[in-house]
Amino acid sequence: MAKNAVITGWGFYAPSRVMTNAELERIVDTSDEWITSRTGIRERRIASDGETTSSMSTRAARVALDRARLRPQDVQMIIVGTCSPDYVFPATACMVQNDLGATRAGAFDIEAACTSFVSALAVARGMVVSGAIQNAVVIGAETLSRFLNWKDRTTCVLFGDGAGAVVLEASNASVGIESVILHSDGSQAEKLMIPAGGARIPATQGTLDRGQHLITMQGGDVFKLAVKSMADAAEEALAEAGLGLDDIALMVPHQANIRIIEQVAKRLHFPMERVFVNIQRYGNTSAASIPIAIAEAEAMGRLRRGDKVLLVAFGGGFTWGASVLEWFGAHDGVRPPGPLERARGAIEDVVERVRPV
Ligand code: ACO
Repeated sequence: MAKNAVITGWGFYAPSRVMTNAELERIVDTSDEWITSRTGIRERRIASDGETTSSMSTRAARVALDRARLRPQDVQMIIVGTCSPDYVFPATACMVQNDLGATRAGAFDIEAACTSFVSALAVARGMVVSGAIQNAVVIGAETLSRFLNWKDRTTCVLFGDGAGAVVLEASNASVGIESVILHSDGSQAEKLMIPAGGARIPATQGTLDRGQHLITMQGGDVFKLAVKSMADAAEEALAEAGLGLDDIALMVPHQANIRIIEQVAKRLHFPMERVFVNIQRYGNTSAASIPIAIAEAEAMGRLRRGDKVLLVAFGGGFTWGASVLEWFGAHDGVRPPGPLERARGAIEDVVERVRPV
């Protein structure tokens, strides 16, 4: 059984199409000033016609696998966290499995709205640490632009599309994903949801006419709960990891709204200089926001080996959670042997031993 699960690869993909606040001014009754001051968002990426949650996931996963120097055929599990899947079923992860050529991998989706990535990480970590698998590609990806009511200024300005992925591998190191905690409260589900298109309110012409297959949200209530829940979850995950906020080099929160992020930091007395923020460029990409932020933070030199990192998320459901991990980074040319490499190594040992002297 592995002692721990470590992130050995990371990557993200954002569609090239940039939608600015100025462009939104021409679609709904809003202003760049309102959006920037209330949310921190300046622009977001919007998937092109051919792009889907699975195609963006695959692109992010390829980058993460390259970084981990893992071949698609060696991947054992693909988990996609998303609330904007390609289909009701089959799982988006199955599309990714096929597109990657991950011929030996299991694949399934996890849906916990914006908490989907942290939830997927929790499941993957459990499977890796239990010894059930040696590695997993964990993805957070969304195409929320297809589920937005472009006539509702209270929601359409907030969200964006994209995908982020990490590779999680078994490790005998004493550090890795130190803790993951998850919570939920389904009693307020209607405050942030897509009401129709599921089994409870099947899609009809009427649901389409009423726009019930699109995101509805009571933003104020979401805001208040998000701040308290994210701060509480952060403290809980830290306590479980036996660490304090002073130990944390970087907090990577779900990028929902800059004011939510600032208030979480304030509540925790955590300095904003150690909080990663990229909401200004991507908006709220829901499940994708944390893995995109991880990949960008690393690229900007804000994640170094040994850094303790705090992930914290809140989303529809309601769902919320947090995770504390130690950043491992890229292998220095030495990979811990996976099952296939161990098998190859064993064969080489045998060849070595029987070689005539
Ligand atoms: N442009 C201009 N005016 C707007 C806009 C807009 N885009 N949207 C709302 N307004 C107006 C409102 O109509 C209201 O006008 P009124 O006073 O005349 O009625 C006024 O601005 C203030 O509206 P509030 O809702 O009070 O604005 P608030 O400061 O609360 O900000 C916001 C709204 C940004 C939505 C905020 O509540 C928020 O960020 N909530 C959290 C949203 C979130 O993060 N959701 C995702 C969670 S995760 C997931 O699972 C997807």
